[in-house]
Amino acid sequence: MAFESSCDETSVAIIEDGAKICSNVVATQIKSHKRFGGVVPEVASRHHIEEITICIRDAMQEAHVTYDDLSAVAVTYGPGLVGALLIGVTAAKMVAWAHHLPLIPVNHLAGHIYAARFVEPIAFPALALVVSGGHTELVYMPEAGTFEIIGETRDDAAGEAYDKVGRVLGINYPAGPTVDAMAAKGHDTFHFPRAMDKDPNYDFSFSGLKSAFINTYHHAEQVGAKLNHDDLATSFQSAVVDVLVDKTLRALKHYPVKQLILAGGVAANNGLRKQLQSAIDQLPATELLMAPRKLCGDNAAMIGAAAYVLFKEGHFAGLDLNADPSLEF
Ligand code: KG4
Ligand code: ZN
Repeated sequence: MAFESSCDETSVAIIEDGAKICSNVVATQIKSHKRFGGVVPEVASRHHIEEITICIRDAMQEAHVTYDDLSAVAVTYGPGLVGALLIGVTAAKMVAWAHHLPLIPVNHLAGHIYAARFVEPIAFPALALVVSGGHTELVYMPEAGTFEIIGETRDDAAGEAYDKVGRVLGINYPAGPTVDAMAAKGHDTFHFPRAMDKDPNYDFSFSGLKSAFINTYHHAEQVGAKLNHDDLATSFQSAVVDVLVDKTLRALKHYPVKQLILAGGVAANNGLRKQLQSAIDQLPATELLMAPRKLCGDNAAMIGAAAYVLFKEGHFAGLDLNADPSLEF
């Protein structure tokens, strides 16, 4: 049984051998956070408390299991919102204690990466591009269970930039999917900056792009010009995707791997999936493994998949496990 509650989704899943999803119940809180334009931590914690036992019941019913069928309990213990994480950690500890099951502590980002495991087994060495609302990271994995961050955003995460420019266009949180759909209809007429694209590192920066977008929008408003929102979306998305793909290709030159894994909420982005696929098609030695679209966002199935590696190694936590909001690999 796996738990995920690091941000605004409460999720419980039943996973078999880290590879088969028996159930994956996700209670999303998006409606409650929409009116605030982003996730409000206190609101998130309260929803997790209300939802978690319902998610446990539904996940067990859907998978047709009883507590006797379980062999371990896995939980995201960081990184994320501390109050939100604590609900999942406490629930997982409760189940582990009451049913004498081992407790497996899982890093949320490792979970995102292992969502790709439901397509096929991960082959090492592997490189993962993790793009979500809170993270934009290139993670090198020489072998199972070893994660090395070789590049990351120096300011905004890619998903955060989507949500912020979406807000300017009047799109509700989370704006990524809508901006993605608009981008398919427009043209790259604005040529926004590709920050740090040519710099000899694997880091990213999206705050300059966000400012360029907002300045362009407000300047047009001031002079009474009407800008085409689809063109704005296309131009923004082209800049984001160009940088993500270019930096990943740069990393692949120095870290030749069997598989490139695309994971995280933004991995559902159509433009990114398409452009990355055509780039990787040119590299015969590397296979692109993309997390299934419906498992790109936060969910407990991915936590169960990542936990299986730790389960086999006997890597368990005690009942003193605590949430670690700024957990690193
Ligand atoms: O991984 P996730 O569910 O939560 C975090 O751990 O952050 O990612 C959510 C983020 C949001 O910023 C959302 O706008 C973005 O992923 N997102 C997208 C798309 N679908 C979700 N961004 C761009 N294109 C999409 N299709
Ligand atoms: Zn996430």
